[in-house]
Amino acid sequence: MRVFKYGMTDSTNTRAREYAKSEGGELPAVFIADGQTEGRGRRGRSFDSELGAGLYISFLFLPKGRGATPADITVRAAVALIRSLKKAFGLSAEIKWINDIFVGGRKLAGILAEGEFNDAGELSYAVLGIGVNLKDRKFPEEISDIATSVEAHVGGEPDREGFAKILTEQFFSVLAEQSVIEEYKSYSCVIGKQVLVRRMSGESFSAKVLDITPGGELLVLREDGERELLFSAEISIRV
Ligand code: BTN
Repeated sequence: MRVFKYGMTDSTNTRAREYAKSEGGELPAVFIADGQTEGRGRRGRSFDSELGAGLYISFLFLPKGRGATPADITVRAAVALIRSLKKAFGLSAEIKWINDIFVGGRKLAGILAEGEFNDAGELSYAVLGIGVNLKDRKFPEEISDIATSVEAHVGGEPDREGFAKILTEQFFSVLAEQSVIEEYKSYSCVIGKQVLVRRMSGESFSAKVLDITPGGELLVLREDGERELLFSAEISIRV
């Protein structure tokens, strides 16, 4: 598998997408940067990617048919990431649906699935980007109350190269497995919780999380007694 390494780059997801569109690019491929100037997250947000402070990695691959939706790929990446954090650092992390990895109530890592759909509605390629805060540092003010790092929990400087290797192995192994939704659910910190849901439109409402479906959608019970399946929304746990 080809591995491309960068010092500072704009975004490893952008590097991967450009490679996918170039002639003769072999797949799968991995893109790793020491830092990103335009690291991005879901909903057009930026992902703080300080030089040398984290692992910023993107996997480019050909997904398998119709079942390989962005949600399914995100679910698999989250499972691979949780397994890797345990294996590399002995760290137990949780998943906040659908793509956030939390430790001790703070965000440690994020996942961003992107791709291009062909005319048949299938993904012609997929890019799965993962950003993990490794080193303890002074986070930018906007995220200082909500972010954490591996180093803050395990002590000693995390081995970035070693972790990248473990994560890459886990990711491609989880991609080839049967459904991992039960494992994903076992790491979830939202099932059974009262949450605030914010739709893409900006509208928000309170609900209780009942379940996560095999396709990765969130099943909630709204306060008006109706059940609703959420495909893309953002949730925060109410305390
Ligand atoms: C999120 O928290 O909403 C997702 C964050 C994903 C960040 C990773 S870092 C590597 C890859 N390149 C990017 O620009 N984004 C992803």
